[in-house]
Amino acid sequence: MHHSSSEVGKFATVFENYDNVETPIECELRGTPPKFLEGTMLRNGPGMFQIGNDMYKHWFDGLAYPQRYHFQDGKLFYSAKFIETNDYMNNINNRTIVTSSFGTYKFPDPCKRIYGRFETKFDKGDADSPAENPSVSFRQHGDGIYACTESPILYRIDPDSLSILGRLDMSQYVCVYTYTAHSNSDYEGNVYNIGTKFLSTHPEYIFTKTMNPANNPNAKNRHTCEDTRIVGTVKSTAADSPCYYHSFGMTQNHFVLLEGPVRISLKDIATR
Ligand SMILES: [Fe+2]
Repeated sequence: MHHSSSEVGKFATVFENYDNVETPIECELRGTPPKFLEGTMLRNGPGMFQIGNDMYKHWFDGLAYPQRYHFQDGKLFYSAKFIETNDYMNNINNRTIVTSSFGTYKFPDPCKRIYGRFETKFDKGDADSPAENPSVSFRQHGDGIYACTESPILYRIDPDSLSILGRLDMSQYVCVYTYTAHSNSDYEGNVYNIGTKFLSTHPEYIFTKTMNPANNPNAKNRHTCEDTRIVGTVKSTAADSPCYYHSFGMTQNHFVLLEGPVRISLKDIATR
């Protein structure tokens, strides 16, 4: 990347492409880590912005690149690996950016599968699914570690190898187009989240609860999200523009959503 301003140059260095580090490397330590420090910390984030001659322009668009910091016997090991999502593989195989992302979002209608009667003109891409580049955060459902972005598509990954264990579309359980990466949880490990539903309806914010499968002896496995239900809905104050949100608050009895001035213009999406 070439930028004349040094400030832009500094910013540009974060828009780099990184390489997989699949075999954990031992890090050089300064000082002595405390003996009790054992375990793994995962951090999510973008790690690839350029594919062929094509370039993502927004920080949110870089391809998901989980990094693993593993403490063991007073040593620290580092590894990192791109999540080989459908979007990732499409991009790599075509050597260009072929999938939509935060900057150029595509909203196929996930409700179609649930209700089977909505028409959508948004599904004009090659793929039949929303953007799937879970580069924002991790969420835990039972023993499952899920990489998330602001869509209902989650990827469950192995916290040791960083490989994909499963792909999950939450919109098979609740009809949401967007689904924030920053959920909250309670003391029982149940997960609360908020999504937005629009098209064919006045936009609504959908509040969901996913029961912790580890607490359910009848659950089909210990990471399933199938016990997900809607616990509340609130209509957007504007019929043509639900707000964009990145997270929400939660108290013992309430969800707290600030409906800010940054809006998703449905008209712009529909006429694009
Ligand atoms: Fe965030």
